[in-house]
Amino acid sequence: MPTHTIQYEEYASPEAMSAADQQLLAAATASLAHSYSPYSNFKVAAAARLEDGTVVTGWNTENAAYPMCICAEPATLAAAASQRPGMPVVAMAITVKSPSMELREPASPCGSCRQQLREHETRFRTPMRLILRGESGPVYVFSSAGDLLPFGFSGELL
Ligand code: THU
Repeated sequence: MPTHTIQYEEYASPEAMSAADQQLLAAATASLAHSYSPYSNFKVAAAARLEDGTVVTGWNTENAAYPMCICAEPATLAAAASQRPGMPVVAMAITVKSPSMELREPASPCGSCRQQLREHETRFRTPMRLILRGESGPVYVFSSAGDLLPFGFSGELL
């Protein structure tokens, strides 16, 4: 039977990572304070490193008409595109804060976010390193956003 395996790195704590990855995660964590999430009270924030080293941040933004909420990941991709049009994001750190419990495991990007992160990679032909962490506990690092979306829909079919 065909099988699919996803490889990722696991760090016991941010301090075990490179200084660059720690910095990016710290920028994402600091941005949780900007999350506009009065309906779910669930904060998500991300920090993207662009090819030239620029770091941009983004967070989830909700709306009284619930389906209109914007996830942190596409908000960050849009911020990056605005700051440096045409420049790929080479790494993104994503973190979360729950109103009801301490999240000790990383939270994974939702399906829609995975599709958008993956298309950014294919569009710019550059892998995007993903650094995921909850409020505490380990950090998971994926070397490509596409690793989180095996068998994803591809624009090559259109
Ligand atoms: N959210 C994100 O920002 N990114 C994800 O990948 C999953 C969910 C946000 C949307 C909403 O504001 C809140 O988290 C709860 O779903």
